[in-house]
Amino acid sequence: MMELKVDLGERSYPIYIGEGILDDIVDLFNKHRISKLSPILLVTDDQVAEFHLDKVLELLLKGGFQVVSSIIPAGEKSKSIAQFEDLITVAIESGLDRKSTVVALGGGVVGDLAGYVAASYMRGIAFVQIPTTILAHDSSVGGKVAVNHPLAKNIIGAFHQPELVLYDIATLRTLPERQIKAGLSEVIKHGFIRDADFVAWIDHNAYKLLELDSEALEFALYHGCRIKSIIVSQDERENNLRAILNLGHTIGHALEAVAKYNGLLHGEAISIGMVGAARLSVLLGNPEHIYTETKRILRKLGLPIQLPKQLDIDEIMVAMMHDKKFDSGRMTFIIPTEIGEVEISNQVTLEQVSQVLEQLKQEE
Ligand SMILES: NC(=O)c1ccc[n+]([C@@H]2O[C@H](COP(=O)([O-])OP(=O)(O)OC[C@H]3O[C@@H](n4cnc5c(N)ncnc54)[C@H](O)[C@@H]3O)[C@@H](O)[C@H]2O)c1
Ligand SMILES: [Zn+2]
Repeated sequence: MMELKVDLGERSYPIYIGEGILDDIVDLFNKHRISKLSPILLVTDDQVAEFHLDKVLELLLKGGFQVVSSIIPAGEKSKSIAQFEDLITVAIESGLDRKSTVVALGGGVVGDLAGYVAASYMRGIAFVQIPTTILAHDSSVGGKVAVNHPLAKNIIGAFHQPELVLYDIATLRTLPERQIKAGLSEVIKHGFIRDADFVAWIDHNAYKLLELDSEALEFALYHGCRIKSIIVSQDERENNLRAILNLGHTIGHALEAVAKYNGLLHGEAISIGMVGAARLSVLLGNPEHIYTETKRILRKLGLPIQLPKQLDIDEIMVAMMHDKKFDSGRMTFIIPTEIGEVEISNQVTLEQVSQVLEQLKQEE
């Protein structure tokens, strides 16, 4: 088992990563003083519940915890005010109090929703994350919790750090293949931002990662979380530096919006967005290999690198301007300046962006 400390002063917390560590849940909960006297609200979705809920429930009940479980429908639609309200209703009816804990068993959707319930109920109670997707390594660091509004994603939220994160690699074995690849997109994003050695390691171990090799995954999730935690420790509330975590997201978010959230998974859209950012980098005068290497490695991970031809460039541009402020025809982008290094640039012109989007349709 590896342990990573996310360093945030008195809000610091550990992330435990390892194969089979769910078996240690009771010891870890005891170690972190999760209350046995107040009920725990365990939130999961219907797909995760099928594979992993019984085990977690059984272990916690045997360990002397009082647990109420609530199963939400799988999918982004559950990150809603309506679902939030339902969970608050369950919390009240089940007698959760100030010493209670909300436990999120699932991917980023369950983590963000349950985390927002924990942040809001009685002005904030304890929160524990048990991530079950690779992508959720990202949401397990930094304390951002949120639900969506019909007009904007993640617009209603808070910063609420967990007590601990328990990341059992064994739970990832039931993930659909497409979700595995999409999750790896955010893992390598952390390498592209800050750590060329980690990118090289992922390049060499891509096949092991895709096969969910235990040791390789433990290493990759640890380093993905580590890089993010270093950045978050320096800028917990995203005043500036934390923005570099959005590499590939300006284009990626616009693609998700235009594809109406069901054509592309988040990690897939980010993969295309990272190729776009690398192309912009070359347009701004950086070396060509930034683009060729970015594309080669993402393709090796089985991720899409081409913008779906049916998506309309003008619509994507409009979605991007919706998402981002732009001054006198220029947009702010996270631009790779080398593999493993990025800068925040506000020198990107709208013409350059639309040129890159056209190029992204031609990628092979
Ligand atoms: N808070 C943050 O910092 C942060 C960071 C990144 C992403 N996010 C959010 O995370 C969400 C995306 O996360 P995600 O990709 O994990 O999505 P998700 O939670 O929807 O999970 C993806 C799918 O996989 C299923 N699933 C999850 N674990 C499984 C398992 N072990 N076996 C089988 N199926 C399983 C789920 O039921 C779902 O259908 C988005 O809402 C995004 O905004 C938040
Ligand atoms: Zn992301």
